[in-house]
Amino acid sequence: MHNNDTVVIAGCGDLGTEAGLRFARRGHHVIGLRRRAELVPAPITGRSADLRHEVPEIPADTSVVVVAFAAGSRDVDEYRATYVDGLRNVLDGIDASDADPRLLVVSSTAVYDVDDGSEVTEDTPVHGATPTAEVLVEAEALLRVRAPDAVLVRLSGVYGPGRERLIDQVRSGSARLAPGASPHTNRIHRDDAAAALVHLATVEDPAPTYLGTDDEPSRLDDVLRFLADELGVPEPVTGDGGARQSGGDKRLSNALLRSTGWAPQYPTFREGYRAVLAGEGVRHP
Ligand SMILES: NC(=O)c1ccc[n+]([C@@H]2O[C@H](COP(=O)([O-])OP(=O)(O)OC[C@H]3O[C@@H](n4cnc5c(N)ncnc54)[C@H](OP(=O)(O)O)[C@@H]3O)[C@@H](O)[C@H]2O)c1
Repeated sequence: MHNNDTVVIAGCGDLGTEAGLRFARRGHHVIGLRRRAELVPAPITGRSADLRHEVPEIPADTSVVVVAFAAGSRDVDEYRATYVDGLRNVLDGIDASDADPRLLVVSSTAVYDVDDGSEVTEDTPVHGATPTAEVLVEAEALLRVRAPDAVLVRLSGVYGPGRERLIDQVRSGSARLAPGASPHTNRIHRDDAAAALVHLATVEDPAPTYLGTDDEPSRLDDVLRFLADELGVPEPVTGDGGARQSGGDKRLSNALLRSTGWAPQYPTFREGYRAVLAGEGVRHP
């Protein structure tokens, strides 16, 4: 990878743009593919493409391709069109090009169907417990067959500037503490996820899969109490519903990613949410 090579971001949204800007700062020419290319900020070059139906052109000097598109809804057909057909089209584009880029594909830790609070690593078997998780498992399997050298990055819950669902629920009083023990949840600040992608672009002999998550799996109620304290609002009341998540109960390990030299700027939700509450950073459209 040379500094003036091209980097292609397929699905240049919030995470893809943050990664793209970081590649650009290193001197790369960055192309951001999305349907609404007009939203891609300079110095990234926006190109309009609907990857569900189009095979993108990958320039011959491309050294890195990042796949970071997200389906616009949880409709299963839309999910499959985006994650499976979209990935297939990107793979076809790479095959048709003279480039031999490192391929980094973002997936989700939703592929782990674990709800007993146990530790999850890259070696934990995946299982599509929901129809949407099933589609992600399908996309991952396609990647393995078509591009055995690709690097899969399974991210936990991405939060960051402008992604303030939990904060809003605590502020408005609609968040609820669990009647019993609350599940372990896992998250990663958007900037740390972007930094991980840029870092993995140059790691020698990368593993096939990395979990992208911060240092501390945390019980959801601890996060809610922390946010209430930071916001200066009453602690959420106990009850059903509210901010309950459907992410199971698992403790994700970032040991393998950390072993490559990546370290999170926001090691836990405390540093990360403090930065969000302080208004640091912007959400990319
Ligand atoms: N949010 C989480 O907690 C979480 C957790 C784990 C993993 N992830 C993964 O993280 C990745 C990035 O998420 P994000 O937060 O950056 O999402 P985002 O801001 O919604 O960005 C997604 C991008 O994908 C583009 N896109 C969607 N469909 C497309 C298509 N058919 N053709 C071309 N581009 C398309 C969208 O642009 P257009 O609409 O303009 O096409 C948008 O720029 C996704 O792979 C997501 O699954 C997220």
